Amino acid sequence: MSATASKRAPLPDDIRARKGGVPLVSLTAYTTPMAQMMDDHCDFVLVGDSVGMVLHGLPSTLSVTMEMMILHGQAVARGLSRAMMVVDMPFGSYEAAPQEAFANAARIMRETGAGAIKLEGGVGMAETIAFLVQRGIPVMAHIGLTPQSINTLGGYKVQGRGAAGDALMRDAQAVAEAGAFAVVLEKVPEGLSNRITSEVPIPTIGIGASAGCDGQILVVDDMLGLFTAFKAKFIKRFANLGEQGAVAIAEYARAVRARDFPGPEHVFSDEAPK
Ligand code: KIV
Repeated sequence: MSATASKRAPLPDDIRARKGGVPLVSLTAYTTPMAQMMDDHCDFVLVGDSVGMVLHGLPSTLSVTMEMMILHGQAVARGLSRAMMVVDMPFGSYEAAPQEAFANAARIMRETGAGAIKLEGGVGMAETIAFLVQRGIPVMAHIGLTPQSINTLGGYKVQGRGAAGDALMRDAQAVAEAGAFAVVLEKVPEGLSNRITSEVPIPTIGIGASAGCDGQILVVDDMLGLFTAFKAKFIKRFANLGEQGAVAIAEYARAVRARDFPGPEHVFSDEAPK
């Protein structure tokens, strides 16, 4: 059960009100069964564009489409009744103009039932965040390592070290002033994460940031050991389901080849039971 112990899904204002309180718990989800598994434990569930990499085998999040986000959002919504669902806006769906961002965000909210959308960017996206919030779209911001900008960031590097820390602080302040109800800090050094957390009025959600953030998020396939292509330092594997799955599949293949499976308990008799 989430710390809010709510009978209804939290609203963005409930999440905002958790600033400085019991840490917010969040994971990504892309399917109904995963969403069902985390519904009692998470305050919000993110349908992340990481779906492109962990479920579809894409090399980055850049080619994730609106259709993919909506399809996975609809699947996750069917598995949630207590946790709020946030859906990522995919690359190219919101950066060019606030009006285009509104049309795409409204479509995601309408077709998935999401409680909020998430988009990447700080000072440069503040105008769009304000435009969306003023028109009824709750926005979670995402700063620091923003994977959709991987080609301009020059790789999956820690962000905000040294002099770059001031710019990241300005990003955090800008998204809060624009009306975002929470901000994800990805791959931001610990001290800077703590400073942002103490200076901005909205909850900070850390991923590779600091235990001092107002909440934490991980990609579910990373923390369950299902996505093993690479492991960032900030990932803790709470299970090794990938390894267990490989052992189970090898045993299935052996059993089929040896005619050990199916066994008598898995087949149907020719006569109807009396
Ligand atoms: O897409 C995603 O999974 C994310 C999280 C890493 C925060 O944005």
